[in-house]
Amino acid sequence: MIMKLLILNGPNLNLLGTREPDVYGSKTFEEFLAKLRRDFPQVELDYSQSNEEGVIVTSLQEADGVYSGVVLNAAAYTHTSIAIADAIAAISVPVIEVHISNVFAREEFRWHSVIAPYCMGSISGFGLQSYSLAVRAFIHCNSIEQ
Ligand code: DQA
Repeated sequence: MIMKLLILNGPNLNLLGTREPDVYGSKTFEEFLAKLRRDFPQVELDYSQSNEEGVIVTSLQEADGVYSGVVLNAAAYTHTSIAIADAIAAISVPVIEVHISNVFAREEFRWHSVIAPYCMGSISGFGLQSYSLAVRAFIHCNSIEQ
């Protein structure tokens, strides 16, 4: 059976391509996603982005039982959202936290993630490749399970 993953992006990540290109690069997420789908033809990759905390909570709740994993870049909500942390804790689908930038090499307020304790693991600092590494991690875990 084909593995289905959900990539979920939080606030301001719709602006990738033009947003602080020195930090986040100059590719749009849609451009990157097309490449990701080509690189992983064995995985079905769904994608959604929202600037709203509640929409992200609902997407996580709805992912339960539908996807084998969620690749989540909660963006700024990573550092503040108990609602998203609670949603991750409430669902049984594993979530991998990703960040494009190395959050530990940036401002102190980015050093803490309130969602990390509820995630399977965290990947930060590899540019858009952070998402590829998360997909690889799910593929790897899935092949170990079988
Ligand atoms: C980010 C890092 C966050 O601190 C920031 O608020 C973002 C993007 C990243 O992908 O590097 O919006 O999650």
